[in-house]
Amino acid sequence: MYLHGTSRINEKGRLEIGGCDTVDLAEQFGTPLYVYDEEMIRDICRAYKQAFAETGLRYQVAYASKAFSSLAMCRLVAEEGLSLDVVSAGELFTAAQAGFPVERIHFHGNNKSPDELDYALQMGVGEFVVDNFYELNLLGQLAFGRGQTVPILLRVTPGVEAHTHEYISTGQQDSKFGFDVASGQAKIAIETALRTKGVKLGGLHSHIGSQIFETEGFAVAISRVAELYEWTSQEFAVNFDRLNVGGGFGIRYIAEDQPLRPKDYVRAIADAVKSEFAVRGLDDPEVIIEPGRSIVGAAGTTLYTVGSSKTIPGIRKYIAVDGGMSDNPRPALYQAEHEAILANRAREAAEETVSVAGKCCESGDMLIWDLQLPPAESSDILAVTCTGAYNYSMASNYNRLPRPAAVFVKNGRADLIIRRETLEDLIRNDLLPERMTAEVGK
Ligand code: LLP
Repeated sequence: MYLHGTSRINEKGRLEIGGCDTVDLAEQFGTPLYVYDEEMIRDICRAYKQAFAETGLRYQVAYASKAFSSLAMCRLVAEEGLSLDVVSAGELFTAAQAGFPVERIHFHGNNKSPDELDYALQMGVGEFVVDNFYELNLLGQLAFGRGQTVPILLRVTPGVEAHTHEYISTGQQDSKFGFDVASGQAKIAIETALRTKGVKLGGLHSHIGSQIFETEGFAVAISRVAELYEWTSQEFAVNFDRLNVGGGFGIRYIAEDQPLRPKDYVRAIADAVKSEFAVRGLDDPEVIIEPGRSIVGAAGTTLYTVGSSKTIPGIRKYIAVDGGMSDNPRPALYQAEHEAILANRAREAAEETVSVAGKCCESGDMLIWDLQLPPAESSDILAVTCTGAYNYSMASNYNRLPRPAAVFVKNGRADLIIRRETLEDLIRNDLLPERMTAEVGK
């Protein structure tokens, strides 16, 4: 199994992350447990910034908090000097409670409600990424009504869809997000935004996909967006000063995944921006990227305790863990694949093939098919890697399973950053109508 960040196998033959023995972590905090390698997250934040610093461009690296949002994570991102992308009042509230500088927050979303827009205006959010005509009009009215003029970008769909290993340059016109470029909607949106009171249009945003392993798709998107910058400059004598190219940089979940390094993505983006803008006689804009998965994904590992197992002779051995699709819905949703080891017996030969089942009442609740492990027994600790992004953030209480705790580990120290939910938490918002309070059976 590939060891990410500070992960290593220690003298006891156990998986260690951030200098903490994961078997001890499981004992101290219980399982399932999300373990975040703090140093690795910080290193990646710095790698993105460093890569941009070398390009000479003005830039912002905005962490896409949908990947993993919590007070400690927002604080870490603030400490590292990144900006933040939020897509709801909830993500905005979390950031604000963490003391995140609001002027470095970008507010995204394809259906921001009037209340959410109002809240963001009241908070003084740095920038709104406007997705559609409804929002443009609504935001303009709300901001104007408050005597504000707020910085906005327009999200456009440049007709590029990037997948893991390839990009399709026509595929993504049919998207729920943004103003379509091919049909001319994007131009109408620019024209409309430039005369909408309450907003100040500073550029465009595009996001071409997620878990991307190549740079060609970004280059094509940048070229199409640069054409719109040129058109705007010629038509309205307005020169946009910012360009947001979204996130989507891939990570290594399994051996077949071959992601580029942060600096490779950044260099390719910077080169494309410089050449596409120079050729049109335009000044370089400030470039914004929004990595989510690539900042936290590989830095997160989930620890589970193995419970029951079942062998169907000649067919398969299942081992079941104390979590599942409730804490990691990605295998069930996207057929996502993961690597895993027995954290307490990390050096033992993997001589058995097992499939890892979750504990939810659903056949689809499988975390890993056909995993090589040492013969696993009840109470072994299974560590599943690359669960830092879109795991806690998409976790549910299906089957009324309490959501796991999360810890930041660093230099041998483990800090609880999210408490484990209790059974009481599960019914905290439940109410019994008064007419139902008579004792059952009386
Ligand atoms: N910016 C925008 C506008 C986005 O829509 C997204 C992700 C990102 C940035 C961050 O993308 P990342 O760098 O994390 O790939 N739940 C799915 C992923 C959904 C991504 C949605 N948008 C999953 O678990 O794979």
